[in-house]
Amino acid sequence: MQVFLTGATGIIGSAVLDAMIKGGHPVTALARDPEKAEKLAAKGAAPIIGELGMPKTYGEPVKAADAVVHAAFEASPRGVAKETQALETILSAMTQASQADGKPRVFVYTSGVWVLGRSLKAAEEDSPLDPPPHVEWRPKHEEMVLSAFSASLRTVVVRPGIVYGGGRGIIADLIKDALNGLIRVVGPGKNRWPCVYDRDLGELYVRMLESPMAAGVIHATDEADERVMDIAEAVAAHLPQRPDIRNVPLTEARKKLGTYADALALDQRVRSPKARALGWTPTQTGVINSVPRLVEEFRNAQRE
Ligand SMILES: NC(=O)c1ccc[n+]([C@@H]2O[C@H](COP(=O)([O-])OP(=O)(O)OC[C@H]3O[C@@H](n4cnc5c(N)ncnc54)[C@H](OP(=O)(O)O)[C@@H]3O)[C@@H](O)[C@H]2O)c1
Repeated sequence: MQVFLTGATGIIGSAVLDAMIKGGHPVTALARDPEKAEKLAAKGAAPIIGELGMPKTYGEPVKAADAVVHAAFEASPRGVAKETQALETILSAMTQASQADGKPRVFVYTSGVWVLGRSLKAAEEDSPLDPPPHVEWRPKHEEMVLSAFSASLRTVVVRPGIVYGGGRGIIADLIKDALNGLIRVVGPGKNRWPCVYDRDLGELYVRMLESPMAAGVIHATDEADERVMDIAEAVAAHLPQRPDIRNVPLTEARKKLGTYADALALDQRVRSPKARALGWTPTQTGVINSVPRLVEEFRNAQRE
């Protein structure tokens, strides 16, 4: 399948790119600057210089692709509006292209488990949504994607858990803080984070493209239900010099992190039955068991 990928330099997109290339799918990837484009080319992708907010830069490669994976997101006040524009562009270009050449297309949109809100009873794909303010805009974007489903356009909304592995992201930041001597946990840390290993997630995206069964919302979590404090303790215990762990009250964390603090404080249990029905079995079954690997991956990423 010819794949067009946005966000290929990001945490999720880079794992998706690696998995697509390993799976034998040619990838055209959107990059924001020539230096990043070069890095993507070195990994085996065909880069295109463009920007989510400038639909003309990627309309044609979207039409030429059998599948589009959207894993880009701009973390700025304009991020949500740019994503709305990108979704409108991609969904309409794919529908038009399929009508013109009669070939069906697949679109995979990257959402996240936070839209589910607090979920003490294990949430599945049909569970009601209760997004915290940080992602309250997201259900509308999911709906845009789901409602574009047709005989010629198969649409998938993936909701990954917090991604671990490599040198970036929430878990990698926790490892970084631990190596610097102080882990900060928002609240008492009794809340559970649904998580997923980056390479397992990449492999799931390949399955979603390849399987005609994959449609609608699909969760991507390792189902380990680990408490944040237990994750922090496991990282601390593994290091030769034990860091301190400080529980930061939510009200104090909000002052520094804004609405992001509430997302980090969510207590969630999230199941992924639809991913498992595609034959997906995560190789890493939780952060705690993977700590030695994750610290090594983090250190390797720092050397790159
Ligand atoms: N990471 C997680 O744990 C996690 C979990 C669940 C859901 N998600 C969701 O997954 C999506 C991707 O997350 P991520 O963590 O992989 O993000 P990330 O590491 O911050 O990567 C973002 C990607 O988007 C690209 N990008 C940003 N603004 C762009 C623009 N205006 N035009 C074109 N490309 C642009 C970045 O390119 P540059 O390299 O040029 O900056 C980068 O490739 C987000 O919607 C996020 O909410 C993430």
